[in-house]
Amino acid sequence: MSADAAFTGSIPELYDTVLVPMVFTDFSADLAAHVATGDPATVLETAAGTGALTRELHRILPEATITATDLNPAMLGQAAKALPASERIRWQQADAQSLPFEDESFDAVVNQFGLMFVPDRARAYAEARRVLRPGGRLSAAVWSTLEDNEAALLVEQALASLFPGRPPRFFRRVPFAYNDEDLIRSELEAAGFSGIAAHTVEHQNAPASARAIAVSHVRGTPLANELSEGYGDLGRITEEVARLLEARFRGVPFAGKTSAVFLTGAA
Ligand SMILES: C[S@@+](CC[C@H](N)C(=O)[O-])C[C@H]1O[C@@H](n2cnc3c(N)ncnc32)[C@H](O)[C@@H]1O
Repeated sequence: MSADAAFTGSIPELYDTVLVPMVFTDFSADLAAHVATGDPATVLETAAGTGALTRELHRILPEATITATDLNPAMLGQAAKALPASERIRWQQADAQSLPFEDESFDAVVNQFGLMFVPDRARAYAEARRVLRPGGRLSAAVWSTLEDNEAALLVEQALASLFPGRPPRFFRRVPFAYNDEDLIRSELEAAGFSGIAAHTVEHQNAPASARAIAVSHVRGTPLANELSEGYGDLGRITEEVARLLEARFRGVPFAGKTSAVFLTGAA
């Protein structure tokens, strides 16, 4: 697994407890509501992470059984703390590019903010289509550009001023790098999906302190791996980022724009 996809070590807990409530929750509610319009009885979630979307699906689809999968078992371990496995919810390690499920076995496949981490998206789309019943729907969310996601942009700008000439590029390279609607449509078409639609959804992050934004983005994502490997002590870098953000916020919690592209297609 590449370091960019390694949600391991202290990342899962910080991701789940600080980053998810700050940035992900509104999108989870929207995406779950969208999935619920199809009233699926069996749902497969890929790249489920610590279960931000899974928890919403579990709440809004009380009759459905949900199989929630992720590449990193540590993310699923964190997820199961809040939503233990039951008759309705199964946590299972799986790579979205190679799903261990029968053909045509789910009514819906969902993926929230995970497709950007998958090296071979064509395979992931083909696998999603294979395991969907005919007419079943893939629904997914990917981040819009870094410029449209202001808290992450501020963190990148702080890092660029700390490391001039060789700024860390994780955000631009991975989570905010897959949002071209024409490209997304053509990839879904190539995988055989029909009725494809894509649209932008915008919110604001929950108001957050400089320290919470620094800790969640620097230590709660695989940016931590890039920084530890090439830029020095992670604790010191986090404090420096928090200091630079605080100089801008001056004690006022920051709430900036967040933006995502929702995509859907039928098998
Ligand atoms: C930004 S997190 C999103 C997690 C969750 N869906 C959410 O909205 O909070 C990206 C997730 O993709 C997972 N991931 C990365 N590569 C993957 C792959 N090839 N197959 C399945 N999951 C993958 C990571 O382990 C991580 O949990």
